[in-house]
Amino acid sequence: MNGTLRAALIATERFTLEPLGVHHAAEMTEVLAGSALYKYIGGTAPTAQILAARYAAQALGTSPDGREIWLNWIIREQGRSIGFVQATVEADGPASDLAWVVGEAFQGRGAATEAARAMVAWLRLQHPPVRITASIHPENTASSAVARHLGLTPSGHLDADGEEQWNDSTPTP
Ligand SMILES: CC(C)(COP(=O)(O)OP(=O)(O)OC[C@H]1O[C@@H](n2cnc3c(N)ncnc32)[C@H](O)[C@@H]1OP(=O)(O)O)[C@@H](O)C(=O)NCCC(=O)NCCS
Repeated sequence: MNGTLRAALIATERFTLEPLGVHHAAEMTEVLAGSALYKYIGGTAPTAQILAARYAAQALGTSPDGREIWLNWIIREQGRSIGFVQATVEADGPASDLAWVVGEAFQGRGAATEAARAMVAWLRLQHPPVRITASIHPENTASSAVARHLGLTPSGHLDADGEEQWNDSTPTP
């Protein structure tokens, strides 16, 4: 496996996925404001300071033990940030756990689906073989729809946080 995999610029029909950097923190603080975004994923809106620290860590691109590759992209539309997509990838295996968040003002226009599709296509090209998963609260219908568009199916298994794992293949018993 390629332990040096790094997020690269990805262009979709409507958006640019920019590899996340600390410089995105100020603008993303506005995108991630409000409480509705956190209804199913937990947490609260981050301050600019917290987000800058988070982005500094994420931009390193790997977990401290080197087992995970952290790939994060800011979704940009006509020069402004509207959300992010991320993949936590096993450095020595096929597992890629995905997540997506789109700011409230920009939802319902297919942004998460378009960005996540592009991320998955990039991953399949750069880091094969890829086994995609996502953890989604059972009542999070918007996120479930995104996962379904990626070809994922719900496993029926809830984790300790009450989230259901979605997979792109039937897990081995
Ligand atoms: C989940 C999320 C990223 C979807 O973003 P989005 O850009 O609006 O998604 P899309 O426009 O690609 O829509 C995906 C599907 O969700 C549906 N959808 C969008 N908003 C919805 C809502 N509030 N309620 C129900 N369905 C909704 C859309 O109709 C679409 O389904 P369809 O393609 O079958 O018609 C966004 O709602 C969000 O950021 N939520 C908070 C964070 C979160 O829960 N992230 C997921 C972590 S697993």
